Amino acid sequence: MLSDKSFPVIEATLPLVGSRIGEITPKFYARLFAAHPELLDGLFSRSNQRNGNQQQALAGSIAAFATHLVNNPGTLPETVLARIAHRHASLASPNRSTRWSTSTCSPPSPRT
Ligand code: HEM
Repeated sequence: MLSDKSFPVIEATLPLVGSRIGEITPKFYARLFAAHPELLDGLFSRSNQRNGNQQQALAGSIAAFATHLVNNPGTLPETVLARIAHRHASLASPNRSTRWSTSTCSPPSPRT
């Protein structure tokens, strides 16, 4: 839920941020991996970075989250939040045998 202070800021900046989100997220990841290249070794998928899936996923979630908060004050986009939370929790799982697919979000195959 947005505070009274944050609401007008998000509402006013959403059109511009939304229209530029496709430019913002690639720059965000470029800076992140320049500062922390080790994140590309086992945590983030290099192919999802190359083909743009990860940038698209982050951009879509930010736009969907902000739009929901502005259009439905007092409620949360539960489906989006649950999906993102499950995804990140799976990344931290000690039993993770392989990465989940960001396109299908299907669970990894069991260890053999
Ligand atoms: C505002 C904070 C964040 C948002 C909105 C966000 C959003 C997302 C979304 C939408 C996905 C794709 C989920 C799906 O496949 O359904 C994702 C995946 C992922 N996120 Fe985040 N995330 C955030 C913070 C972080 C942080 C701090 C890290 C760790 C440094 C992180 C690491 C990852 C990784 C490793 C993946 C999987 C990427 C891959 O398969 O290559 N995220 N995130």
